[in-house]
Amino acid sequence: MTTESKITPVEHNQKLYIETVGCQMNVLDSELVVGALRQEGYELTSDMLQADTVLFNTCSVREHAEHKIYSQLGRMKFSKRERPDQVIGVIGCMAQKDQDLIFRRAPHVDIIVGTGQLGEIPRMVREARSNREKSMALSLGRKAGSRDSVSASFESYDPLREPEMRPSPYQAYVRIMIGCDKFCTYCVVPSTRGPEQSRAPKDILSETRVLAGQGVKEIILLGQTVNSYKHTEDGRLHRLSDLLHQLHDVDGIDRIKFITSYPKDMGNDLLETIRDLPKAAHYLHVPIQSGCNDVLKMMKRGYTVEQYMEMMGRIREILPDCAVSSDFIVGHPGETEESFEKSMDIIRECRFKNSFIFKYSPRPGTKAFELYEDEIPDKVKKRRNNEMLALQNQISEEDNAGFIGKEVEVLVEGASKTEVKKSGSNSEETDGTIQLMGRTRCDRIVAFDGNPRLKGTLTNISIFDCTPTTLLGSIVTRSYQHGTEGMLPILQ
Ligand code: 5AD
Ligand code: SF4
Repeated sequence: MTTESKITPVEHNQKLYIETVGCQMNVLDSELVVGALRQEGYELTSDMLQADTVLFNTCSVREHAEHKIYSQLGRMKFSKRERPDQVIGVIGCMAQKDQDLIFRRAPHVDIIVGTGQLGEIPRMVREARSNREKSMALSLGRKAGSRDSVSASFESYDPLREPEMRPSPYQAYVRIMIGCDKFCTYCVVPSTRGPEQSRAPKDILSETRVLAGQGVKEIILLGQTVNSYKHTEDGRLHRLSDLLHQLHDVDGIDRIKFITSYPKDMGNDLLETIRDLPKAAHYLHVPIQSGCNDVLKMMKRGYTVEQYMEMMGRIREILPDCAVSSDFIVGHPGETEESFEKSMDIIRECRFKNSFIFKYSPRPGTKAFELYEDEIPDKVKKRRNNEMLALQNQISEEDNAGFIGKEVEVLVEGASKTEVKKSGSNSEETDGTIQLMGRTRCDRIVAFDGNPRLKGTLTNISIFDCTPTTLLGSIVTRSYQHGTEGMLPILQ
């Protein structure tokens, strides 16, 4: 067995296709899986049918995400007929939840790997190639053993990184926690991602130093309830605020962000740390889910609207310029028109930077699935979703308009994925400039024309227009040059 563990590029030019659905945690998992398979000689391809190995990194949070994967697997049945040597894997949350049901629904799948077992993938792919046998690696179910044994079966798998899979070459996700212990009644995450576990600060720090060495400027710390982070090391308790202080000292890192926060765990120590550390982003993603106490109670979110508003008050007091975004579920069992209007009022009152709005999706295995009937018709869910989105967009645009005429500092991420049009201008490129995009310290997206070599820099932009999602601006330059008196544009 000793030769098994050696990492040697056994086969050259094997092609890997990986499709990722779901949250940032999944994006990071895919980065790590690709990093590991690269060491085995794999190259990425964007053509699923040409690939030797096809992996689907899946999400179970809503039914729609699962349907998408099952229909992709349906397509693969035909490609596997032509290419019986192809290895097909289903990994992540849906693998952990549906287990061998996936083999029954899609018999051409070769490997099934749960969220805590991703480190097994290179071996399993290798074995599937050589002996064509199906295999499955899963973590223990939450009721399958003691908390420690279940926790131990969900392994964090973080050292191998793959720059090509990052949001941009200058940004990288860093997992600081895995799992969740909150058990909101509608949510599958505590069973698909297992018990809450915080990683050791020294591991997070060394990973961050490696990323900084690779040119990463912004790290985005990930956890399902990231502000609940706590880890005892050398007899000392480290909270997220302590971790931020440590990460702040890493040379090369300009910005530190963290998502997603849990309202009840938003302590003043954290808010004051963000205020005091120049690299900390002034951005918090703190989902409220509903503006109605009766619904929050049914969701078992563990706070009331009044407590959430008290937290918002502290955020506004300690970090007046901090952008806050939220998640809402519309059409949750028990959500009357009156409850829905209360959620709308919360959006008006809190003026979130943006909200992620979801139609309630009953998930087998959750308390809500067991206890409540999915009583709100889809038509009503859709209408509430649209109304809420329209209100949020209106607020986002109004608040974005407040930036017109102001100057903001952005971290330039790269070319705009879709050209954002300015009123009254055509978008012809001149002298090598392209439309670039970046983000402010409060996570607002900014589009502007500039030279591609600005990528990865912190650049000042003057804002002249906006949409609900984007600020539009132009580069501010203040460099004095010898022999001139005015401000000269450089780097355009
Ligand atoms: N139905 C709809 N939305 C859900 N979310 C989690 N579970 C469900 C569900 N069963 C939403 C919550 C959460 C986000 C990641 O997904 O708003 O914050
Ligand atoms: Fe799911 Fe609630 Fe945990 Fe968020 S806090 S991952 S919604 S159980």
